[in-house]
Amino acid sequence: MKKGKLLNVAVVGCGDFGEKHARIFEKLPIANLLAVCDVNQLRADGLAGKINAERECDEEQVQRFYDIEDMLQTLGDRLDACSVAVSEHFHYIAAKPIIEAKKALLLEKPIAHNGEYADKIMNLVSENNSRMMVGQVLKFDPKYQTMAACIERGEFGEVTNMYLERTSTNTVPKRLSGSISMYHYMGVHDFEAMLTFAGKAKPVKVYAQAVNKVNKKYHGEAAVNEGDATFNTITFDNGTIAVIHLFWAHASDSLGFVARAHIFGTKATGYIDIKKQGIEIFRKDEYVDYPEMTYWPEFNDEIQGALKAELLHFCEATLSGRPYIVDNARAVLAVKVIDACRKSLETGMPVLM
Ligand SMILES: NC(=O)c1ccc[n+]([C@@H]2O[C@H](COP(=O)([O-])OP(=O)(O)OC[C@H]3O[C@@H](n4cnc5c(N)ncnc54)[C@H](O)[C@@H]3O)[C@@H](O)[C@H]2O)c1
Repeated sequence: MKKGKLLNVAVVGCGDFGEKHARIFEKLPIANLLAVCDVNQLRADGLAGKINAERECDEEQVQRFYDIEDMLQTLGDRLDACSVAVSEHFHYIAAKPIIEAKKALLLEKPIAHNGEYADKIMNLVSENNSRMMVGQVLKFDPKYQTMAACIERGEFGEVTNMYLERTSTNTVPKRLSGSISMYHYMGVHDFEAMLTFAGKAKPVKVYAQAVNKVNKKYHGEAAVNEGDATFNTITFDNGTIAVIHLFWAHASDSLGFVARAHIFGTKATGYIDIKKQGIEIFRKDEYVDYPEMTYWPEFNDEIQGALKAELLHFCEATLSGRPYIVDNARAVLAVKVIDACRKSLETGMPVLM
């Protein structure tokens, strides 16, 4: 039985990621998961059923809802906060009633699927004097944050150029089948990290190129400009340059996600490689497994890692009234740089910001 002051939360969106949120809140000692909500009734029922099956029979059951307004009205003042893990195109629709009800909001990345909707969400937050944190999980990754702290302390001198890479197998585009852009699904992490590493410098120009050979069959025309891979060159107002390389068609499934960042400053060079996690499993069939150890690894019967740290921070800061450590304005700018890259792909020309 959890004790003390608890944050009463609901999870909206019971897909792959909403389920992770719900399972983490369920175990956090300072959160009380009141409800889950999904327009897909089977998903809401399935997740609520799974959680309730683990609760003691004398404990309150997790409620299930199929409509956000209905949930907000039914739970009323009992509800303190919601986390939203719905598909990217529905972030605004899902966030609006929650912000207007003045519930604290943890909104999964990307804040929205374009800059216009990102601005609309930010305006709603300020008009309603409400609280929101964008779920930028790299903000809770010790490697990216250690690098950011070194840069902020001046240990890199001036960062003059950087290269960030995020690649995956094509099981991801196959599963998403054109419903979401590679920029929003995986690239937004690196755009946000790039802006963090660039400090006060502002992006002023982008140029993007793409190749589309493997994933054409999953995407059809919908994502023809993004395809398998993109190279995105970003120029900052102080002359710093960056390249973000995204690719989601690894020939080998055993690679999973790969992310790297190479940062070059006048006083230091820094490398991040998320594959170096200290664990490799060599299987009999010659398949090498690199279990994911940073973001949401599961052991001791719980989801651990950066996502757990993110949700814990959201609960602690909401309960105590302290500011969230995620910079929402930077999350918006990351989406706007992505808009510019997509425009560059469409036009074949560099785009000024
Ligand atoms: N931080 C990370 O690294 C990370 C990783 C994966 C996904 N995500 C993010 O999590 C979010 C969800 O991704 P996913 O893979 O779980 O998607 P998903 O498609 O598996 O699940 C989304 C769910 O949202 C539901 N939904 C849509 N609109 C709704 C509404 N208005 N009200 C209630 N439910 C609604 C859908 O029915 C679906 O069940 C996305 O924003 C994604 O980018 C973040």
